[in-house]
Amino acid sequence: MINIAILGFGVIGSGTAEVLKRNAETVKAQAGDEVRVKYILDLRDFPESEYADRIVHDFDVILNDPEVSVVAEMMGGSHPAYEFAIAAMKAGKSVVTSNKEVVANYGVELLACAKENKVRYLFEASVGGGIPIIRAMSTSLVGNEICEINGILNGTTNYILTQMKLHGKTMQEALKEAQQKGYAEANPDADILGIDACRKICILSALAFGELVPSDLVDTKGITEITTEDVEKAEANGQAIKLVARAAKRGDGKLYMAVSPVAVNNSNPLSTVDDVFNAVLVRGNTLGDVMFYGAGAGSLPTASAVVADIIDICRCLGNQPEQQQWVKSENVTSEMTDPMKADYEARVGTPLCK
Ligand code: HSE
Repeated sequence: MINIAILGFGVIGSGTAEVLKRNAETVKAQAGDEVRVKYILDLRDFPESEYADRIVHDFDVILNDPEVSVVAEMMGGSHPAYEFAIAAMKAGKSVVTSNKEVVANYGVELLACAKENKVRYLFEASVGGGIPIIRAMSTSLVGNEICEINGILNGTTNYILTQMKLHGKTMQEALKEAQQKGYAEANPDADILGIDACRKICILSALAFGELVPSDLVDTKGITEITTEDVEKAEANGQAIKLVARAAKRGDGKLYMAVSPVAVNNSNPLSTVDDVFNAVLVRGNTLGDVMFYGAGAGSLPTASAVVADIIDICRCLGNQPEQQQWVKSENVTSEMTDPMKADYEARVGTPLCK
């Protein structure tokens, strides 16, 4: 029996318990042993839940229990998620997370702590919900020099833009629906202002280039100024407006990073990514373009990525492989060179920076 603890019993935390229960036989076969949720840390009580007897309010109960080998952090926010993850790893427990904010802010320190303590810090669910993009970039694509990443990385804004385009809804109406479906952040400003997508491109860019850029150094523009007229105009021009987060290595070695709406050419596959779906288009120097597509938010899709990380750790108990380490970097610009810009407009579309 492998015991795990869930931190945060919200949309993703409860989804993780559900996936572990629904797919118990598969999880057991894949992990090599039964995976049991021993504790759930939350500020709230859940008297009606079948997990009511596992709820604890004190993190030390989990930290001091040597039977817990994996901690799944789904609390969101940087603090105390960061402190809990560090403490768990120092106690010899591997950590998995869906928390993009803490990975974007403290990925360097968290990965270093994992290495130092011979455990792992996995974060597949932090970008793209259920899309297996982190593992792909950490393994399958490592024979490439990554040249460019373009991602539709926020399900809420993509849902809103799709509802505006297909059903003429207002941004507020569509946002309310996204909140009801459990896609939006607790503070939806992080979605519509592009902050969430920015954190995610910082993570992908660190995986591709080994350099973690602070998200506040990335030029970030959300969708709040996009009107129904903009959406219609793009359509008439053979384009679709998408919130695109992008990163590329410029010829001079600087990192180009930006988040903004882009009028994506209909010839580019990102233009067809609708609703809550996310997609990441990665360009490798030997592979060319490869696109990862799937549900970018929501309880069970995201939880499936959390569970995959848990299984990965269970398979290597006592002998966790070393992970890529990142360095902090401020080597970033929001300026494309002229040739880059022309190439980008032809292949992808026109960034809208009004
Ligand atoms: N609020 C996020 C989104 C949740 O809409 O994509 C998934 O990270």
